[in-house]
Amino acid sequence: MSAQTPYEILGDDGIKALARAFYEAMDDTPEFADLRNMHGEDLGKVTRMLSAYLTGWMGGPPVYQMIKGTMCLTDPHKPYAIGPKERDMWLACMDEALCRINASEELKTMLKEPMFRVADTVRNTDDSSCPKERDPNIIAMG
Ligand code: HEM
Repeated sequence: MSAQTPYEILGDDGIKALARAFYEAMDDTPEFADLRNMHGEDLGKVTRMLSAYLTGWMGGPPVYQMIKGTMCLTDPHKPYAIGPKERDMWLACMDEALCRINASEELKTMLKEPMFRVADTVRNTDDSSCPKERDPNIIAMG
């Protein structure tokens, strides 16, 4: 396994390309329609924010932390009911994005488990059949 961090492997341009490919895949793949519908019309800002987040998370400069003062993703996701189905759809979309940027098998393996862990911290319900607006009676995870 490479001693390089994912940030050293992808670099700033590679991470920007990954974030772009992620939301392009979400936008053009019917299987991801439910995930796309949770997002706003314009994906420009969230693409930049995901790129900022992944830069620090992959071992580069903490850009998202510098902007938001935290790496915690719970609050920005609180308005959405995110259960196992939404989590797995988000991860499948990330897998597709990694393929689209021709990421190496080594990088995909390196990211697999950590990406599952961070996606599961964003999950805020055990039941994917919840309506879009999260029921305030559900105890927030994390
Ligand atoms: C687990 C399933 C996930 C779902 C369903 C989901 C969904 C969303 C939605 C609906 C938004 C708001 C988009 C908008 O404003 O139009 C959002 C924002 C965001 N998501 Fe996720 N997300 C998930 C996981 C993740 C993960 C794992 C990461 C990071 C690795 C992430 C990073 C972000 C960032 C950085 C933002 C922008 C928040 C901000 O403005 O501070 N999301 N997400």
